[in-house]
Amino acid sequence: MKLTYYGHSCFLLETKGYKLLFDPFISGNPLLGDTVPKIDIASIPADYILLSHGHGDHLLDVEEIVKNTGASFISNYEIITWLEGKGHQGHPMNHGGHWQFPFGTVKYVTAIHSSMLPDGSYGGNPGGFVLWNEEGCIYFAGDTALTLDMQLIPMTCPALDYAILPIGDNFTMNASDAAIAAEFVRCEKTIGCHYDTFGYIKIDKAAASKAFTDKGKQLKLPTIGETWDL
Ligand code: NI
Ligand code: MN
Repeated sequence: MKLTYYGHSCFLLETKGYKLLFDPFISGNPLLGDTVPKIDIASIPADYILLSHGHGDHLLDVEEIVKNTGASFISNYEIITWLEGKGHQGHPMNHGGHWQFPFGTVKYVTAIHSSMLPDGSYGGNPGGFVLWNEEGCIYFAGDTALTLDMQLIPMTCPALDYAILPIGDNFTMNASDAAIAAEFVRCEKTIGCHYDTFGYIKIDKAAASKAFTDKGKQLKLPTIGETWDL
C-alpha cells in the first residue's frame, strides 16, 4: 500500500493496482500556493472516491476530479443519492455495513460529527472507513470526536496497520483524544490529519507528537504532497 497526502483530510491510497481518494479538498486549502506548492487537481488519479461526510472541506473538488478520472463514489446512502442526482455513480453504505470491492473490503463505521451537504441538503450520518485486503488494514476515521464505538473496530475487523485520525481539535478530537483513539482501535501507527488548515485547527505539533509518544504510540504528521510506502 502507498499513501499520498494532499492536505487537510485528503489522501490517495494505492493498493492492489487501485487508486482510492479520500475526502478531496484541495483547491480551497489556504496552505497551498504560499509556502506549499499548489497541487494540480488534474494530475490526481482516482478509481474510487471515498467521502466520510458531506462537509465542503471533504468534498469540495469532487466534480472536477470525477470529470477527469471517471471515478465512482463510496459514501453513506444520502451522499450517494445526492451525487447520483448530479449524474455521478456510487455505492451507498451505512454504519456497520461491509462491502467487498475489487480492491478489498470496506466497513463503514461510526463517527461523532455532523454531515450537511454544501447546498444545505441532508448529508446523512457521518462515518469513517475501515478498509482491508491482503496488503493491510487501514482505518480512515473522517471527522469525529473520540468515541467508545472505536473499541468495536478491533473486535470486528482485522488488526489495523494504520489509523488516519483527525487531530486538529475544535471540530474534531485533538491529539490527546486521538492518542486514546489509537488505544481504542489498538493501532501502533497513526497518521494525523485535519490540522493547521484553518485558524480554528492550528496545532502545536510537538505537543501532538508527545501525546502519542507518552502512550508508546507513533504519530506521523505528513507533509502536503508527500508519498510514502505503508
Ligand atoms: Ni466535517
Ligand atoms: Mn472537516
